[in-house]
Amino acid sequence: MSLIMRPATEADIDRLVDVYFSAFKENPINIRVFPESSPQSRAFWKKNLEGDLKEDYVRFQVMETVDEPKTIAAFAVWNAPQKATNPMPPMPPLSAWPSDGEVDVAAEFFYDIERQHKRFMGPLEGAPEGSQQRPHWYLELIATHRDFQGRGAAGALLRYGEQQADAAGVPCYLDATPDGRPVYTSKGHGFREVESRLYQGGAYEHVFMIRDPRTSA
Ligand SMILES: CC(C)(COP(=O)(O)OP(=O)(O)OC[C@H]1O[C@@H](n2cnc3c(N)ncnc32)[C@H](O)[C@@H]1OP(=O)(O)O)[C@@H](O)C(=O)NCCC(=O)NCCS
Repeated sequence: MSLIMRPATEADIDRLVDVYFSAFKENPINIRVFPESSPQSRAFWKKNLEGDLKEDYVRFQVMETVDEPKTIAAFAVWNAPQKATNPMPPMPPLSAWPSDGEVDVAAEFFYDIERQHKRFMGPLEGAPEGSQQRPHWYLELIATHRDFQGRGAAGALLRYGEQQADAAGVPCYLDATPDGRPVYTSKGHGFREVESRLYQGGAYEHVFMIRDPRTSA
């Protein structure tokens, strides 16, 4: 079964939400914040992904089967480097999270993701006044539908951002679920862990990673 990469479009949104819920079915944070049976959770992700498609700095790619009927197996939302004076992309406000999910879990976890992003990719010492971030490629989200995992879909989506970061000589940054952690630190991808943090009273570990640019020489 072959998969090819292409940019996501508005018409893909419903399938992308399905891929998201399939991929994160067992993630301990996501199942509490976004109960799968909740229409609010689906609406949240639909709005979020539609918003991503409209941002000029977002590179939203899907992996799709070549054979008919074409099916999206995986997707990734990369943020290309932005102007240094642009603020980091903010998390939605508290009022936006599904109220039939656990909003306190969202507040603890997702706002800390935002804080760590600013901490690790905020302006370097000596950056001009008003700088809010250093140039980097940010992997906002990646997900492979459970039916298609282990077939190289995420690997290709990762390389899409990594190669552009290497060409520009800038780092990649992401935060990793337990599923993603071994993928990112594998030799081919080469992310290094810069911080590991515990949530939910120590029951859940999430890891923050940077990949330094590789030169072709
Ligand atoms: C993490 C996830 C995206 C991986 O998707 P996938 O399509 O199954 O991954 P792939 O088959 O492309 O494997 C990716 C790479 O990691 C390597 N890899 C996978 N598991 C590995 C392991 N346990 N140890 C070392 N390397 C591993 C593969 O060999 C492959 O390497 P390559 O790209 O150099 O060929 C998928 O498991 C998923 O959606 N999980 C749930 C959602 C989630 O946690 N997303 C990550 C958010 S941070």
